[in-house]
Amino acid sequence: MKIILASNNKNKLREIKDMLSPYGYEVISQAEAGADIEAEETGSTFEENAEIKARAVYDICHTPVIADDSGLTVDALFGAPGIYSARYAEPGKRCLRILDEMKDIPEEKRSAKFVCVICYIGEDGKSRFFRGECSGKIGYEKRGENGFGYDPIFVYDTRTFAELPSEEKNRVSHRANALAKFEEFIKGNTD
Ligand code: IMP
Repeated sequence: MKIILASNNKNKLREIKDMLSPYGYEVISQAEAGADIEAEETGSTFEENAEIKARAVYDICHTPVIADDSGLTVDALFGAPGIYSARYAEPGKRCLRILDEMKDIPEEKRSAKFVCVICYIGEDGKSRFFRGECSGKIGYEKRGENGFGYDPIFVYDTRTFAELPSEEKNRVSHRANALAKFEEFIKGNTD
């Protein structure tokens, strides 16, 4: 069976291909499926935005679709940047904005989590959601060279996500947790 990934991100595509191919699924990008669109993320939750992205492709292709939406939520900032993670400041300035907003926040109030929600629209046209989270703390400066986005300020254990080798991050991340739940669902459908 074919599943379209509502994204053209090569890393996401590789990760999802590797996970689903043992179950006999062929995963293709939305560009390969001929759906050259970028849906506007107008939702107010990760679930709504993931569904908007998935639904836009499903309405064109009428084939099962998977989409994800993710971001960082910081408790002391009342959940910000949350669904606005990708547009919280200009590229290159997003971590610095958070560090600045957190400069007077004590250690015990620096909790944060990464969230990833996968929306899957199956052959029946129904949306199903799989939420993964990963808890940590906001550090005091950027550390590490790996990863992307908010990884350098997200302290997972004693290390930031940007200091973790990518294999380790990919075992424990919000995306890995959401994908594991999705994999359980797919397994249940193919048994
Ligand atoms: P999305 O592509 O709409 O899900 O945007 C998610 C945004 O959240 C990205 O642009 C990053 O800023 C942030 N983000 C999501 N996952 C991660 C991660 O694993 N590390 C660092 N930042 C992330």
